Amino acid sequence: MSKHNEINLSPFTGFSKLTFKERLSKLKFFAGLSADELEALAGDAKGLTIHHAEHLIENVIGVFSLPLGVATHFKIDGRDVLIPMAVEETSIIAAVSGAAKWVRKNGGFKTKSLGNLIIGQVQFPSLQNTAMFRKKIEENTDDLIAKANAVIPNLVLRGGGVVGIQVREISRPDGKTMGVLHILCNPCNAMGANLINQVCEAMKIPLEKLTGEKIGLCILSNLVDTKLCEATCEIEDITPELGKAIEQATMFANLDPYRCATHNKGVMNGIDPILIATGNDWRAVEAGIHAYIAMNGKYHSITDWKYTDGKLKGVLTAPLAVGTVGGVTQIHPTAKACIKILGVEHADELARICAATGLAQNLAALKALCTVGIVEGHMKLHAANLALAAGAIKHEIHIVQEKLKKEKRITLTRAKELLLQIRQESSQAVSV
Ligand code: MEV
Repeated sequence: MSKHNEINLSPFTGFSKLTFKERLSKLKFFAGLSADELEALAGDAKGLTIHHAEHLIENVIGVFSLPLGVATHFKIDGRDVLIPMAVEETSIIAAVSGAAKWVRKNGGFKTKSLGNLIIGQVQFPSLQNTAMFRKKIEENTDDLIAKANAVIPNLVLRGGGVVGIQVREISRPDGKTMGVLHILCNPCNAMGANLINQVCEAMKIPLEKLTGEKIGLCILSNLVDTKLCEATCEIEDITPELGKAIEQATMFANLDPYRCATHNKGVMNGIDPILIATGNDWRAVEAGIHAYIAMNGKYHSITDWKYTDGKLKGVLTAPLAVGTVGGVTQIHPTAKACIKILGVEHADELARICAATGLAQNLAALKALCTVGIVEGHMKLHAANLALAAGAIKHEIHIVQEKLKKEKRITLTRAKELLLQIRQESSQAVSV
């Protein structure tokens, strides 16, 4: 093993070969989890209870489980990060961990935040006097910011709060002008939706009084291009063929929305499971990312891969409004344990981990698509899933799985046929 590899050896090498119990004890040691936190991961009595659920949503009839795994081998900004992912899809975690191992050998991921503000919108559907509207807002910006911050004193005490107000004018199809105010707020470690919505609604009366104009909607924007995150990586140990093929795969996504949707879905395979595991609003992030990449009028890839000077260079830039406090993050025991596993103190770090994982997931998918294809990686667990779905139990699962893989005909119908065959054979063997 080279010195370079020794230094970069992941503390989670061999993790996938451990039993469930062994994984938990390694995790306990790595993340310093308590017995209760470990139990919360298993989703039993220490996880989300009906009592919690009754406080979160309406008409509760139960709680819904998903598998929770960890992506390994990530080195992000020089730190070893173990990434919890709640997801039902086979091979996402194996693929992203494989890509993380590859990037790790090449120095790991680098990330940065490009902004820390969220946006609240106040709509004036049809302005009577556009120039006067703008003048009134611009002349009174400081006073309006003070009024807005009076609604969120605790956030201001924590170093956050409203820092700016922007005036936007949007032309309506009927020739009139719609006015939109953007209230820019630093939510610190919260995702901030509830905070900014309260601010916007509280500003309604003062703003109508000040401008003499009528207000329509008061609501946050999920298109937080004021809170972008960037993740990058560079890979040297790659053949020119593969490097160029990955570059051309990105070109394909940028040229064709049919491919681009799938390409970006692969990126979200990395991001959404972390958002779910940490109790974050994944719909908000999905909506924000898709709006961001279509902002210039053309839907394009969230990632960019270029093969230059013998290196494959990848970058992902995306709006990622996430929180480590507030909302479900502090109520859901499993989400709390997952935030502890990630070892993040600030929401900004969580967002940067999401960006690196999205980039890694995309790399894994493109590498597979440019080489062996996607089916191979999916085969093992997919075959087991189908065996289960066909009704196989205990040792039957493994037998059906192996037969499906051998035949390379991995369908539910075939799994059912094989299960019937196995059962017939074993009942014949018993009767002989
Ligand atoms: C499957 O969930 C995701 C992929 O389709 C992504 C891609 O095609 O890039 C493999």
